[in-house]
Amino acid sequence: MKIGFIGCGVISTAHLEGLEALKKANQETFHLAAVCDLNAERAEAFAENAHKRLGKRPVVYTDYLRMIEEEPLDAVSVLLNHDLHHTVAENCFAAGIHVQMQKPLAISPYYGRKMLQDADKYKKVLTVSEPSVLGAENVALARAVKDGVIGSVYMMLDYATVSLNRTFFAGTAWRHFKGTAGAGWINDHGVHRTHMFTEVNGPIQEVFAYTDIFEKELSDGKSTIRPTGEDSSVTVFRFENGGLGHWMCSTAAHGEKMGGVWIYGSKGCFRPGRHVALEDGTTIPMVDIVSQYAADIVQDPFAHSYVELWDAILNRKTPIASAQKGLEALSTVFAALESATIGQPVRVKDILNGERHAYEDTVMEEMK
Ligand SMILES: NC(=O)c1ccc[n+]([C@@H]2O[C@H](COP(=O)([O-])OP(=O)(O)OC[C@H]3O[C@@H](n4cnc5c(N)ncnc54)[C@H](O)[C@@H]3O)[C@@H](O)[C@H]2O)c1
Repeated sequence: MKIGFIGCGVISTAHLEGLEALKKANQETFHLAAVCDLNAERAEAFAENAHKRLGKRPVVYTDYLRMIEEEPLDAVSVLLNHDLHHTVAENCFAAGIHVQMQKPLAISPYYGRKMLQDADKYKKVLTVSEPSVLGAENVALARAVKDGVIGSVYMMLDYATVSLNRTFFAGTAWRHFKGTAGAGWINDHGVHRTHMFTEVNGPIQEVFAYTDIFEKELSDGKSTIRPTGEDSSVTVFRFENGGLGHWMCSTAAHGEKMGGVWIYGSKGCFRPGRHVALEDGTTIPMVDIVSQYAADIVQDPFAHSYVELWDAILNRKTPIASAQKGLEALSTVFAALESATIGQPVRVKDILNGERHAYEDTVMEEMK
């Protein structure tokens, strides 16, 4: 099948590497037939890189509508800022093309729901490239916890703090505005975490959060912006199965960063990417967990996202990173944002079904 990439920015190289990993493993995968970016120079450089890695140069476009009209594509991967996800997806579905979307599924839950409806209306596949639940290590984590390796989950703790030193995250100003990114780092990075939480331990029932914008101005030396998206969020939550969670992310942590995930169960602790430590003193290295639980899964999460897309299109297989799961992860982030807005705990299902939207309204206002 033929695929096109829309957007050749920061994350697109990881996707190219994913396709390259599948090619090297002689696994049947998509032919990258066309790429598109508004920035022609960037698109040309990306096509050159693709030529080197995959052996064929994709056709270059600067207008994605032209690309989907002229190229006989089976699928596209949409690698664009969050505010464009829903419109581009709809145009691709209408052109008869399946879509792999980057996380977060959409800029906000309203648009996420619309995307699921559009995929249904046009009978097209919509998957999410969510690396935190894909690839052998992440699949092994979820399968091992569900298999009871650490017993029943009591607590999930997730900390991610970095300092931007008051510049732009990944060199991109759009990430700091609600109107283009939906929120601050809690949406961009936080959605990886909520997707992982729910994949490992089931749906989250309720969230309480405080958020803030500590750094009122950011600058990359050329332009200065006043962010509208939060740079710091501290959140507590409860899973539907009773487990508790504490999750925070900040891009305003100066001097020293900290991070890591700890999952505590009734029999031990899972340190994703590292090991399992059991109460009897046994340590199980990650490599053993992977060989026991995910020997069938390709290592690279981005390569895995294309295996999922392929299987969803050809074999109607439900992907791990389905659009529905992506919507749930996004709704959990927005439950935290809603909570910080109204000063009360918020149920994820009230965000998922559109009943509560005080924070989302501010995003829509800024999108105008
Ligand atoms: N680990 C991950 O999974 C991961 C990491 C980074 C980014 N992402 C996601 O990938 C997406 C893109 O992020 P990024 O960091 O690559 O952003 P980016 O800003 O670096 O790249 C976006 C590209 O899209 C191009 N573009 C914008 N509007 C366009 C249009 N209408 N038509 C064609 N091209 C257009 C821009 O010129 C830019 O090159 C986001 O959804 C982000 O959340 C995922």
